[in-house]
Amino acid sequence: MSHPIDVMIYGLGAIGSFYAFILNRSERVRLTVVARSNYDAVCQNVRLFSPLRLFANLVKSPDEASTMDYIICANKAIDQHRVPAVLKPAVDPDRTSIVIIQNGVGNEEVFREQYPRNLIITCVLKDRMDRWQVDEKTDYLLICQTWVGATQTRPGVVNHTKSENLQIGTFPNPHLDQTIATKRLNEFAALLEHGKTRFQICDDIQQKRWEKVVWNAAWNSLTTLTMVDTQTWLHSSPDAEPFTRKLMFEVITIARACGVPLGDDLIDQQMAKIKAMPGIGSSMQVDRKNGRPMEIDAILGFPLQKAKEHGILAPYLESLCVLLRAIDQKLRAAL
Ligand SMILES: NC(=O)c1ccc[n+]([C@@H]2O[C@H](COP(=O)([O-])OP(=O)(O)OC[C@H]3O[C@@H](n4cnc5c(N)ncnc54)[C@H](OP(=O)(O)O)[C@@H]3O)[C@@H](O)[C@H]2O)c1
Repeated sequence: MSHPIDVMIYGLGAIGSFYAFILNRSERVRLTVVARSNYDAVCQNVRLFSPLRLFANLVKSPDEASTMDYIICANKAIDQHRVPAVLKPAVDPDRTSIVIIQNGVGNEEVFREQYPRNLIITCVLKDRMDRWQVDEKTDYLLICQTWVGATQTRPGVVNHTKSENLQIGTFPNPHLDQTIATKRLNEFAALLEHGKTRFQICDDIQQKRWEKVVWNAAWNSLTTLTMVDTQTWLHSSPDAEPFTRKLMFEVITIARACGVPLGDDLIDQQMAKIKAMPGIGSSMQVDRKNGRPMEIDAILGFPLQKAKEHGILAPYLESLCVLLRAIDQKLRAAL
């Protein structure tokens, strides 16, 4: 058998547990998972992951881990600037690739700063897991409050009935040989393929990130500030849709200033998509309901910072960001 591949998943929530499950399908992967608040629950529920196989080395902190080939950051993009230092015990400057599976833009910057030689693989999740239908007849993978549809085909073998769709690509690194970067990206892609999850390798991954942030800046902030779903918001007044479009246009303008070529037609595309959907909330709205800090920096703060750097006025984005920060501060104070 080829050499083992050491993978650590940092942040064992919905996404972290799903990709732990996917990667665990490869015999080559030696998996370590870092669980925080759900550590005890995961200890008790580990058998639900795969009844006959202890799937991973479960730790409370990267301090307990050795250095890795891949570190997958599936934590919420909250206080991101603190994360690179926390990961240090698991990072080998010559070997470790850091994989970021998070919403937002600019998520890579703090890792690039602290680990200039390491490859960063940056990913965009196209669909939300919690909108999937769960079939009562199937088995489920349970890690804390998160459910993913899966089917047990024979004892010890659990197959997912639905999968995520991940877009992956590399974050530019002038200090790293392109051949090595491509080799590591392809090796990671092979693990996803072996895990039977849907993914695409994208050369324009930053464009994909910004396209998604146009969506998230609008729907996360509007549903969280109003605490209504998207349809209720859109029907709340004749001004709601033009308001949303102006906000999206600001983010698109900022993306272009950052060299990411988004077209104006993205607004029509995203408006058509949301109108065709039933009213939905957002992960940020759920975080507010649950009294948890929200991903404001990655979704609104970074675009706003870039607007200021480029001298672009973004009054809609700025207003929403400032209001959300006030809510976030209250949530954090209550923790
Ligand atoms: N779920 C989806 O379908 C979906 C879809 C698209 C994109 N995403 C994105 O994927 C990422 C992960 O989302 P999720 O749904 O998996 O979230 P989740 O279920 O809430 O899990 C988040 C995990 O991150 C940990 N965490 C939170 N803040 C952290 C921090 N500052 N440092 C270290 N760990 C931290 C949490 O630990 P504690 O429990 O200890 O707080 C938890 O294990 C987010 O960026 C999200 O926006 C998710």
